[in-house]
Amino acid sequence: MADTIVIFGASGDLTSRKLVPALFQLFRKGRLDEPIRIVGFSRSPFSHEQWRKDLSESTAKFLGSNFDAKKWEEFAAQIFYHPGDIGNAQDFLTLRSFLEDLEAGEPALHLYYLATAPRFYEPAIEQLGQSGLADESKGPRRVIVEKPFGTDLATAQGLNCSIHQVFDESQVYRIDHYLGKETVQNLMVLRFGNSIFEPIWNRNYIDHVQITVAEEVDVASRAGYYDHAGVMRDMVQNHLLQLMMITAMEAPVRYEADAIRNEKVKVLHAVQPLSAAQIGTNTFRAQYRGYTAAEGVAATSRTATFAALRLSIDNWRWQGVPFYLRSGKAMSCRTTQIVIQFHAPPHKLFADSPRDLGESNRLVIQVQPAEGIQIHFHTKVPDAGMRMRQTDLNFSYQKEFRGLMPEAYERLLLDALEGDASLFARADEVEAAWRICDPVLQAWQERDRPTLMMYDPGFWGPDECREWILAQGREWFDTCPVLG
Ligand code: BG6
Repeated sequence: MADTIVIFGASGDLTSRKLVPALFQLFRKGRLDEPIRIVGFSRSPFSHEQWRKDLSESTAKFLGSNFDAKKWEEFAAQIFYHPGDIGNAQDFLTLRSFLEDLEAGEPALHLYYLATAPRFYEPAIEQLGQSGLADESKGPRRVIVEKPFGTDLATAQGLNCSIHQVFDESQVYRIDHYLGKETVQNLMVLRFGNSIFEPIWNRNYIDHVQITVAEEVDVASRAGYYDHAGVMRDMVQNHLLQLMMITAMEAPVRYEADAIRNEKVKVLHAVQPLSAAQIGTNTFRAQYRGYTAAEGVAATSRTATFAALRLSIDNWRWQGVPFYLRSGKAMSCRTTQIVIQFHAPPHKLFADSPRDLGESNRLVIQVQPAEGIQIHFHTKVPDAGMRMRQTDLNFSYQKEFRGLMPEAYERLLLDALEGDASLFARADEVEAAWRICDPVLQAWQERDRPTLMMYDPGFWGPDECREWILAQGREWFDTCPVLG
């Protein structure tokens, strides 16, 4: 059975930068079990040929030396374009006829990708239902929904409700591209495919966990979107909480979508709700200097471009182990890392021991860009009495496996085509994430608490945030990864 991928929002950036290059890579590497057709749908009046030409140029640009012009010709023959307006029911009927002609009555899987602005998600779903395009008599019908999934709990629930009027939950694939990253999936392998970590992966051995997603870039041309979203909606509600769930979850009984997602969502349910007072003391918000000068940002904007939160997970494994989540734009460097900080040894045997703070054992999971894992530990300095020094064992993906890491979208698109939702968010998961973020956002916006700090671009956020964690006897692991 052939697969037809219909991309709504086909003329947008996501399609040309990520989706089509990822599909082409899957094709080029021979990863697709079935032949695929790609049908673009958006208002721009392209012909098939024009769209193919534009995609050929953008894909060549994004793939660089991985672009294979000969293979592209073969691939592009199955790319089509159907102009249409999401608000127009007639355009969905003509899309349906177009697909029927293309498929010549043969059964086919349809994967609908909502790559539009979020305000079009609900109308698009409704039109898919009304036009009969969600009908499964001619093959499975699945829908991929991009982030942001709602702007708070109420809108996410509303969106889930609209989706469920047309599609069953098993047909819905809510994307969070962090789950498609090799290193994020490897976190599950590290934890559940090895036996040495599990015995120490708990409050008896771990002092705290730090999850940092730092970006060197500022909001650039995305200010129009970002100024409404801010760092909580853009990064914390999805990417950071996903990383936290995988770090903290129990082992699923099977590697299967619902078994995994059941365990993940339990983590969110166990997060201790932050009271208004705790939001004042356990969350941090800041804006980089110069943000309001960006085009599309109001001069008086108080949108946070940096956030830090201390969350507690109320369960047997994690009682008393704080999870520090932190993300920001315009920071020192681009790095996503998870730091598992172990307790210091209970007894200082060696007189020349370094200070305790941040110097005991840690496991650092480098999610990107220097993908790898490091274990930090103390070693005796030769010929120096019993003096110790911090050193590490370093596993690097580049050294071990060479070659390019695949783009997250490759794995996610392939999984959606194969009907594996393990790396996609379920309705209850997204809602549980909003339940954590909503009170924080409300306190920030409505009560203006805690104070919005400022930070200089090119650093690790505001100084006050460093002092805040130091006052808790801990230290941020502010280290830029060594590339190459
Ligand atoms: C997106 C956010 O979801 O993730 C962006 O909207 C952010 O603001 C991006 O830059 C980061 O993704 P990555 O894969 O580059 O870490």
